[in-house]
Amino acid sequence: MATAQMKVTPEDLSNVPTTPSERIPEPTIIVIFGASGDLTKRKLLPALFHLEQVGLLPKEFAIVGVARRPLGDEFAADMRSGILEFGGVTADEPHLEEFVKKVHYFAMNFDDGAAYARLKSELDGIAKANGIGGNRLFYLATAPEYFNEIVQNLGSHGLAKPAQGAVRAVVEKPFGHDLESARELNRQINSVFAERQVFRIDHYLGKETVQNILVFRFANGMFEPVWNRNYIDHVQITAAETLGVEGRGPFYEKAGALRDVVQNHVMELLSFVAMEPPTSFESQSVRLEKLKVWQAIPAIPMTDAVRGQYSPGQIAGKDVLGYREEERVDPESGTETYAAVKLGIDNWRWAGVPFYLRAGKRLKRRYTEISIQFKQPPQLIFNRNASVSDCGEIQPNVITMRIQPDEGISLRFGAKVPTTQAMSVCPVTMDFDYAAAFGKNSANGYERLLLDAMLGDQTLFAHRDGVETTWALYTPILEAWAAKKPKTFPNYAAGSAGPQCSDELLKRDGHTWRKL
Ligand code: BG6
Repeated sequence: MATAQMKVTPEDLSNVPTTPSERIPEPTIIVIFGASGDLTKRKLLPALFHLEQVGLLPKEFAIVGVARRPLGDEFAADMRSGILEFGGVTADEPHLEEFVKKVHYFAMNFDDGAAYARLKSELDGIAKANGIGGNRLFYLATAPEYFNEIVQNLGSHGLAKPAQGAVRAVVEKPFGHDLESARELNRQINSVFAERQVFRIDHYLGKETVQNILVFRFANGMFEPVWNRNYIDHVQITAAETLGVEGRGPFYEKAGALRDVVQNHVMELLSFVAMEPPTSFESQSVRLEKLKVWQAIPAIPMTDAVRGQYSPGQIAGKDVLGYREEERVDPESGTETYAAVKLGIDNWRWAGVPFYLRAGKRLKRRYTEISIQFKQPPQLIFNRNASVSDCGEIQPNVITMRIQPDEGISLRFGAKVPTTQAMSVCPVTMDFDYAAAFGKNSANGYERLLLDAMLGDQTLFAHRDGVETTWALYTPILEAWAAKKPKTFPNYAAGSAGPQCSDELLKRDGHTWRKL
C-alpha cells in the first residue's frame, strides 16, 4: 500500500497540541524561600505565568513567597509588575488578574524555628481553601548560607514528608563553593530529603538550545557516526558575556568565573556534547551518561587553566569600569572574571581530543556557543595554488551550536567558487535559525524546569554525584589560584576578546579561539 508523503514544516508543527494533559502537574503549592530577591520577580514568576497561559498549571495552584521583610499584599503587586516587565506580558492579558490572586506572602526569619510551624498551618490553610492537598514544591532561592537551616527546619516541622502528596525541594546555585562544601551540603539536604525529592537547578538545562544538543545528536542518524576522535579535531565551548558583575560585587568576589559559570553551566554543555547515547530520555539514563563523561576527565594540569580580570574599557561604545573599580569590590582584587581551561576525556570516543572551555564577563560580545571542529580530509587536492583562490587554505568543517543569542546551528564546509578558471574552494555556511524556523521563543528556561520539578522529572537537574565530580575537578585549580594572587591582573580590557594567556593556551596546540 502506498503511503502518502507528508512534508513536516514549522507551520505544521503549530498544529501539534502544546498542552498534552499528561504534562499538567497535580495540584501544588510552590513555596519560594528568598522570594524578595531578583530571581523571583525576573524569572520565576514570569515563567510560572507563561505556564499558566499555555494551560500547563493545574487549576488548584498557589505560590507562597517567603522572605524576611514584612511585605504583605505588596508582594503580589510587585510580582504582577515583574510579570509585565520581564515576561513580555501586557496588562490586559487574560488570566493575569486571576493568576495574581494565587500569589501569597509569608514573612519570617529563616532561623526562627517557631515560624516554620506557622508556615505549615498557613500552607495547610491555603491548600484547604484551594483544594490542593499535600503536594509542595519548596524552592530555595535564598543566599546559600540559609539552605541548611531551611532544610533542617522543614524536616523537623514535618514539612518535608507530609502524609499525603509529593514534597520536593528545588535548590538554586551556587551549590557549594568547592568539593568539601558541596559534599557537606549534599549530606545536609539528603539527611532530610531523599535524592529523588531534590532538584538542583542549573538554568542552562532549561534552555531550548541546550536540550536541542541531545536532539541534534540522537534524533538524527548522520551526525553521531562522525561524532568522535576519528573525525573531530577539537571542541570549543564559549560562554561570553558583555555584562559585568551588576552590583553583585560581594557575591562575585567570592565566586569568580570558574565557580560561577564553568563548574556548572559550561560543564553541563560539555556533558551534553560528549555523552554516550542514553538508553532513554529518562532521568536515570541521562544523568548516568553525563556522570560518566565527567568521571572520565583527568585532573587538569595548572598549565591548562588560565584566568583574567577586566580593566576599564568600552562596551557597545560606552565607557565601563574595570572590575576593581566596581561597587563593593576589593580595589586589589585577585578574583578572576575570565577563565579558560583545556581538558581531555579519557574514553574510547574522545581520547586525544582537546576540549577548550572559556567563560568571561565584560567581553566583546554576548555569545554562548559550542563549536565542533572537524579534522581536515586526508588529502587536500584543491587550493594548492593560493593565487587562484581568495580564500587561502581550505578550512576544516565546523558545526557550531549557538546557544544564545541568535539561537541556531550552522555547518561550515568548502564550496567551489563559480569560475571557469582553476578549482577554487571557499568556506560557506549552512544555517538553521531557531527564530526563522519556529518563531521567537520568549521562554526563559525556568518554565521547563519548574514544570519538570512539579512533575517530579529529574532529567534536567543535577545529581549529587555529578555536582561532586565537577567540583572535584575544579577545586585544586581554585585552591591554587586562591593561594597565588596573579600579578598580571587586570589583564584584559572590558570589551575585548579576553586575555592573551587564553589565546596562548590554544596557540600551543596550533589552534585559535573562534572569533568573538
Ligand atoms: C548565572 C551566573 O548563573 O549565569 C551569572 O551567576 C551569569 O554571573 C549567568 O551572568 C549567565 O546566564 P545566561 O542565561 O545569561 O547565560
